[in-house]
Amino acid sequence: MSSSRKPRKHPYLHLSQASGWNAWHTLTSVVLAVAIAAAIIATQGWGGRTAAIGAVLIVAVGMILYRVRRSLEQLVGHVVHVKHSAICAERHYIDVLRRVIKCVEARDKYMIGHSERVGRLTRSLAERLAFSPAECDTLQIAAQLHDIGMVAIPEHILTDAARIGADGFRAVKKHSEIGFEVLEPLESLREMLPAVRYHHERMNGTGYPAGLAGEDIPLSARILAVADAYDAMTHDRPHRSGMTAAVAVAELRRCSPAGYDPRCVEALSKIMCLPEGSEVHEVYAGVR
Ligand SMILES: [Fe+2]
Repeated sequence: MSSSRKPRKHPYLHLSQASGWNAWHTLTSVVLAVAIAAAIIATQGWGGRTAAIGAVLIVAVGMILYRVRRSLEQLVGHVVHVKHSAICAERHYIDVLRRVIKCVEARDKYMIGHSERVGRLTRSLAERLAFSPAECDTLQIAAQLHDIGMVAIPEHILTDAARIGADGFRAVKKHSEIGFEVLEPLESLREMLPAVRYHHERMNGTGYPAGLAGEDIPLSARILAVADAYDAMTHDRPHRSGMTAAVAVAELRRCSPAGYDPRCVEALSKIMCLPEGSEVHEVYAGVR
């Protein structure tokens, strides 16, 4: 059975299509060149043939240059369009991942809202530590998605922490690498992906997955580690109630510099010391 649909031509296959050039343009150019040459020969006789040939060449070169310029303009337009499409696709992918994170959190009632809160607190810390607005934007998104790798961890391991055991803990420890692999294709997050990969590293080198220590741990990961720990400490868990902000900051201070970067902990303490209604309040407003 034959199909009436014509195969679609790719716009990049033909230069004439890409530049918008057509037979009408070619005909007009040829007519123009012939007319100029004829006019020169008519006024100067056969002796003006060199000038006529020169005029034809000028028209031909002008036609080629015009065609190349149109092609380049169109090519630039296509590149801009492709880049815009890629950005839209990435945003869509990130939105999907945000929904996946919500589903992951829904498996454990104690984790609901954790990623969103950590994203906001990480941003506040990054602002305190003089990250640029663009870096803060990117880091906030990376922080919102920092536990996306948990999607690969079986539910019974996540919800049965008391019986998790060494094997279960080993499985949980894979989530930062898995999260990194899930997010790696996202060009817009590339700069802040080390935060996802290394947010469980500790300053004394006892963390995972790589056992990095001190300044070898990217600053973005040290910031995320503090925000992640603070949020975990200040919210209820099956075996304990959430700490107050003051107790949590004191505990983080106690655990630095061995565990957490003192600079990040001090940035957090400054945020928490702000009067009510300012940054602390905004960080947690409406996210439970
Ligand atoms: Fe994590």
